[in-house]
Amino acid sequence: MDIRRVSVVGCGLMGSGIAEVAAKSGFDVTVLEVDDEVLERGKGRIKRSMDRAVEKEKLTLADREAAWDRLHFTAKVSDLESSNIVVEAITENLDAKVELFRELDKSCPGDTIFASNTSSLTVTDMAAATSRGDRFVGLHFFNPVPVMKLVEVVRTIATSQETVDRAMQFSRALGKVPIAAKDNSGFVVNLLLVPYLLDAIRQLEHGVATIEDIDTAMALGLGYPMGPFILCDFVGIDTLYKISEIMFEEYRDARYAPPPLLKRIATMGRFGQKTGKGFYDWSGEKPVALPV
Ligand code: 3HC
Repeated sequence: MDIRRVSVVGCGLMGSGIAEVAAKSGFDVTVLEVDDEVLERGKGRIKRSMDRAVEKEKLTLADREAAWDRLHFTAKVSDLESSNIVVEAITENLDAKVELFRELDKSCPGDTIFASNTSSLTVTDMAAATSRGDRFVGLHFFNPVPVMKLVEVVRTIATSQETVDRAMQFSRALGKVPIAAKDNSGFVVNLLLVPYLLDAIRQLEHGVATIEDIDTAMALGLGYPMGPFILCDFVGIDTLYKISEIMFEEYRDARYAPPPLLKRIATMGRFGQKTGKGFYDWSGEKPVALPV
């Protein structure tokens, strides 16, 4: 069976990006959110991103209209019944994800593939709560989804080869480059990225250099598009804190332990770019490092 109808659950930063890319790639997309208010916010995010693509002449007006027509928004799980694949991109909370997949398992036909965009939980923990372990994969996208080319396709010990093949094919149809990863917490990218970001915070705690200088060092010394503190604010301080806690819980390895400074900044509600403050103040034209 070909994948033609895609559902995306969660229309935050990642879900809206996945829905946008799928609609632009010609898929019929249904986006599910908890209520109409959250749906409206997600719709606005997709619209702004598509408008920006039109302004930058990466998308024609006609293609934007066609993509927009392929997008449907709902707050009812039963509207996902005819999906060939459901991609979950809700908050990084295992109980919430398990509850959602249990509900989806009841309402979707047996051949619908379930995929989670989890960044640090294990896919197995979600797949085990459903009756379709063989049709359950991880599809881990990167922020900003319309720009970043990678998708990690994650197989558990129960995922069938056919499901992996179809998930790879689907990722390519979205214009992405898939890589295969085993179901270990953090897969490939976050297994390396998270200790790197946490080490940068530890450097700061030890007074090795300032926020700006550590960022300049990594951007100019290694050619990274963003230094680690800009990247922390971009990923989200709350998200990074949650991911590091999950990975620490899984591996009990000090490399993944959230440094106290990360916890303090998260506790203050400085979640990064999305709240206007993190390691930097984002309210002006240029980010300004905040005292820590
Ligand atoms: N949507 C669509 N297009 C976007 C975009 C968005 N949200 N943000 C940027 N772009 C496009 C721009 O239109 C521009 O395209 P052009 O070159 O054709 O004009 C291009 O991307 C570059 O953007 P800008 O010129 O505005 O800015 P930069 O050159 O600084 O690039 C960036 C922005 C692409 C975000 C770049 O800084 C970058 O690659 N940063 C690293 C991002 C990264 O590491 N992401 C992964 C995070 S980890 C993750 O997601 C995993 C999770 O589990 C934690």
